[in-house]
Order: sequence, then C-alpha cells, then structure tokens
Amino acid sequence: MEYAINPWMDTATPVDRELAVKQWHGLRETLLGLGHTVHELGPEPGLPDMVYAANGAFVVDGTVYGARFRHPQRTAEAAAHRAFYESHGWRFVAPAETNEGEGDFTYLPAAHGGLILAGYGFRTEPAAHAEAQEVLGRPVVSLRLVDPRFYHLDTALAPLDDGNIAYFPEAFSVAAQRVLAQLFPDAVRADEVDAFGFGLNLVSDGRHVVLNAEASGMAAKVAAAGYLPVPVELSELKKGGGSVKCCVAELRD
Ligand code: ARG
Repeated sequence: MEYAINPWMDTATPVDRELAVKQWHGLRETLLGLGHTVHELGPEPGLPDMVYAANGAFVVDGTVYGARFRHPQRTAEAAAHRAFYESHGWRFVAPAETNEGEGDFTYLPAAHGGLILAGYGFRTEPAAHAEAQEVLGRPVVSLRLVDPRFYHLDTALAPLDDGNIAYFPEAFSVAAQRVLAQLFPDAVRADEVDAFGFGLNLVSDGRHVVLNAEASGMAAKVAAAGYLPVPVELSELKKGGGSVKCCVAELRD
C-alpha cells in the first residue's frame, strides 16, 4: 500500500493484489447475476483508490454532482469520473466545494418525497451539502460523523430500499442520531460488530442486500427485516477502508 489516508489503511500491511482483483470480479459477477447493468471505469496508473468508485460523483435524476477529493493522492480521480459521465451524455455539474461523492451522499427517492442524506466531519465539507442541494434540487439533511474509523457516510449508513435505511448510530453525533431516529423510525440499527465488519457499506436494490461476508450479524438483521442478504468476500478491499458500497457508484437516471 503506497499511502494511508484513513484508519483502516496501513502502509505496512501487505495487500494480495491478485486476490483483491478476484474479489472485485466476484462483486461484479454478483451484481450482474442479480440482473443489474455494470459499467466499468478502468484503472489509472498512480490512482490505487480508484477501485472505490463511489467517491467520484453523486447522481440524482440524471444530474451528476462531481467530486472534489479531500486528499491530494485522490484528486486526479475526479476527472476520470467526469469524463465517464460526459461521454455517456449525463448532465455534469462541477463542484466548487470539497466532497467525496457517494462516499458522503446518498439518496432515498421515497423518503419524505425524496431526501438526500449527507455526511461531514472527515472528508466532505458542509458547504458541499448546500451546493448539492442547489445543484440537485432536493432537500439535504446534514449528518455529522464523529468516529474517524467511519470517515464516510457510506461506512455507517446505507439505504435498504427507496425509503428506509440501516445505520450504526454511534458513528454520528448525538444530534444527528436524533435526526435519523425522527426521519427513519423503522431503520435497521447496526451494532459495533456489524459496523467494524463493514456491514453498513452495502448495496441494496430494495430486495437483495449485497454486503461484506464478514458482516454475518448484519446479514441476519437485514434478513429479519425482510430483505435477502447476498454476502460477498471483500477482505482485501477492506484493507483500503472500503467494501461493497465503496466500489459501486449508483447511476440514477
Ligand atoms: N482508501 C479510500 C479512502 O480513504 C477508501 C474509500 C472508500 N470509499 C467509500 N465510499 N467509503 O479514500
């Protein structure tokens, strides 16, 4: 590992490159097997974190709000994402504020008429939340993250369907916990073991919940809530501080 920009990364820990690629292909096959379309953004030399495709932009209703990375090691990734969206005919809006795309933004079309949830505290600036609201025309609820191990919103919270979420309350400020409890009284609440197993870094299509295999307790919780857990092995990706959701950018057209 060439650099460390979050508490999960350690330049002294070896990453099994071959296994990492194999696991990434496993995730891709899983999504295809569930009937989803998968576009691939190719890797670029010198940008190892590009595998975490969620961070390059945030799309709602065909409008793309571009990313502006916090760390210089990832700055150049934003242009690759921009080129992808522009070449596929999406409406792209370049950001003025620091934000890491779907790492810190998520959208629930059926919650309160269409709600954006946004995290801040480690990567994305609160000013970007206001900017996203202006660009995307949806209410943005700002949530303060307080634990550096859960440095992106998507490490601590995920939509399970169009209107409900799963989250790990302790990753948020006490006030943000109250806001989430008010907005999502029926949310699936995760515990510390679920969160440390990257069980919140999931991708759901409203029925199938694709999540890190290590998070077996989280799988049981989503099953109890009526969803179908689909575990995938992503141990090598966890060494970079990411899992299922980090590797996937959702294209909401
Ligand atoms: N190493 C990457 C970073 O620290 C991991 C990004 C994980 N992505 C995510 N959506 N949480 O920026």
